[in-house]
Amino acid sequence: MAKKIVILNGSPRAKGNTAELIRSFTEGAESAGHTVVCFDLQKMNIHPCLGCCGGGKNPDSPCVQKDDMDKIYPAYKEADMVVLASPLYYWTISGQLKCAFDRLFAVAECNENLANPQKECALLMAAEGNGYEETLYWYDRLMKHLGWTDKGKVLCGGVFNVGDIKGNPKLKEAFNFGKKLK
Ligand SMILES: Cc1cc2nc3c(=O)[nH]c(=O)nc-3n(C[C@H](O)[C@H](O)[C@H](O)COP(=O)(O)O)c2cc1C
Repeated sequence: MAKKIVILNGSPRAKGNTAELIRSFTEGAESAGHTVVCFDLQKMNIHPCLGCCGGGKNPDSPCVQKDDMDKIYPAYKEADMVVLASPLYYWTISGQLKCAFDRLFAVAECNENLANPQKECALLMAAEGNGYEETLYWYDRLMKHLGWTDKGKVLCGGVFNVGDIKGNPKLKEAFNFGKKLK
């Protein structure tokens, strides 16, 4: 079945290594008939969560803060799958991705008992090293908490500068991951 996929791109580098992983994944997914929408968070005006717990009153614009999250909410609500894409920054995801993800809480606030919309999820990451343990622990906790289904991860270590990922087998892995999504 064709899926609606939303990618949250937390990399600030438009032509960076995460962007290349996203490109390959998207090509694979689209070749299999899935629909992909990617939000480049760096280019968007997205403020951090205020923790006010005052959202959830308007399903079309569920957060009290009015910014570019209002472009993401409709796509997120429709999506079958959310792809978290980020460079590894100090053993975790980038601030851009964390800010946007926290703001999705406002969607759960629209529901009885803060029920989270059920999604499939995947993780795409690029890093200089291979210190992914902390992020994988966090991601696993997140999936369990939200009740989401992990569909897989592509983690590309050994890339630091823009362009380092060129020719890396992880790009093919990302393409095949997108193409073989069931
Ligand atoms: C602020 C910052 C923190 C970083 N922290 C790590 C880290 O903890 N581990 C690591 O392996 N690489 C780290 N890196 C390197 C990036 O993950 C790496 O350059 C990656 O390829 C960047 O992806 P991008 O091209 O999509 O921006 C860090 C880079 C920056 C700028």
